[in-house]
Amino acid sequence: MKKLLLVGNWKSHKTLQEAHTFMIAFLNNSFIEWLHTHAENEDKSKRIIICPPILLIPDLDRMLEQIQAKIPIDLGVQDISPFPIGSHTGEVAASEIVGLAKYVIVGHSERRKEFGETDELVFQKVNAAKESGLEPIFCVQGKDTAVPEGIKIVAYEPIGAIGSAHPDDPQHAESVAAFFKEEKHIPFVLYGGSITAENVSLYTTKPHIDGVLVGGASLDPTSFSEIIQRA
Ligand code: PGA
Repeated sequence: MKKLLLVGNWKSHKTLQEAHTFMIAFLNNSFIEWLHTHAENEDKSKRIIICPPILLIPDLDRMLEQIQAKIPIDLGVQDISPFPIGSHTGEVAASEIVGLAKYVIVGHSERRKEFGETDELVFQKVNAAKESGLEPIFCVQGKDTAVPEGIKIVAYEPIGAIGSAHPDDPQHAESVAAFFKEEKHIPFVLYGGSITAENVSLYTTKPHIDGVLVGGASLDPTSFSEIIQRA
């Protein structure tokens, strides 16, 4: 059975009120019923991961806990400090996240570009995450991106495809995914960049692509739930 990871990256979007409104619409009865019936079918199981702005994590964690039924939705953060707890103004250490979120996105091209994150820094962040038991979702921009040892989830996100309405050619994305799975032995390779409900299955049906990292289209509850259903 193929396991798909369907990750929503909200980036720096949504106030607390907007996040509540999203969750109420997203977790409507018919979608929860659909999840129960289809999230574990014979050909693929689907795990949903939402990565909101870090300030929203405790509230969303409580909302998810209140849902009686066990549904496969986890939370992730979009960044992590490379340092342990200590005097590092403005940073949030991995050990402060544990218990609230399971995943952390590391090495996104927006952080590399806007905050000058280098390979060395993202490697430190991966170490910090792993020491606390958080699972890094490690973003690569192509086959040349250096990947630290022990990474289990890689997200291939070509820069030109992000937020551009010009997703990578599915066959090309598949060949990059095959490279990371076969040559680098990465267990899960996701594709990200301009994923929509209309195009998601072109990627998730490819043999080496194990899911998607979705930015813009994860902000709307209807489009994100359609992506999950059509993946
Ligand atoms: P996009 O963003 O889906 O809006 O293209 C993807 C990402 O940056 O993770």
